Amino acid sequence: MRDIETKEDLSFLMNAFYSKMLKDKEIGYIFTEVAQLDLEKHLPSLTNFWENMLLQPNGYKKNIMDIHLQLNGKEKLMPQHFERWLFLLNETVTENFKGEKVTQMLNSSKNIAAMMQYKMDLT
Ligand code: HEM
Repeated sequence: MRDIETKEDLSFLMNAFYSKMLKDKEIGYIFTEVAQLDLEKHLPSLTNFWENMLLQPNGYKKNIMDIHLQLNGKEKLMPQHFERWLFLLNETVTENFKGEKVTQMLNSSKNIAAMMQYKMDLT
C-alpha cells in the first residue's frame, strides 16, 4: 500500500468516507437530515481542506471551528459522534493507504476533534 500523494487520492478518500458516514446508524442523520448537504459541493470542499493541510497550500480559508459550532447549535454533537467520525475516517484511510501522510491526517483529525469538543463545552 502506498501513501496519500495526490488530490485525486483525497477526493477518492472523501467519497469513500462519506459513503460510510451517510449510511451510518449513529451519525448518518446529521449529514442527511440535520445539515442536508449538497455533496457535489461538500466533497470538493473537504478535498480542498485536506489538500491544503497535507499536500500543498491552496488558499483554503474557511473557519471549520465556526462551521461545527453552528452545527452543534442545530443538533448537539456528542463525544460518541466524534468517536464514530474518527473511527470511520480511520477505517477508510487505513483500508486504502499507508504512510506519513496517513499518520498526519489521522493525528490532525484527532486534534481538531478534541479542539471542537473543547470549544463546544464552553458554549
Ligand atoms: C461529530 C463529528 C462531525 C460531524 C457530525 C461533522 C459534520 C459536518 C457537517 C454536517 C459539515 C457541513 C456543514 C455545512 O456546510 O454547513 C461539516 C463540514 C466540514 N467538516 Fe465536519 N463534522 C464532524 C467532525 C469533523 C472533524 C473532526 C473534522 C476535522 C478535520 C471536520 C472537518 C470538516 C471540514 C473540513 C468541513 C468542510 C468545511 C467547508 O469547507 O465547507 N469535521 N462537517
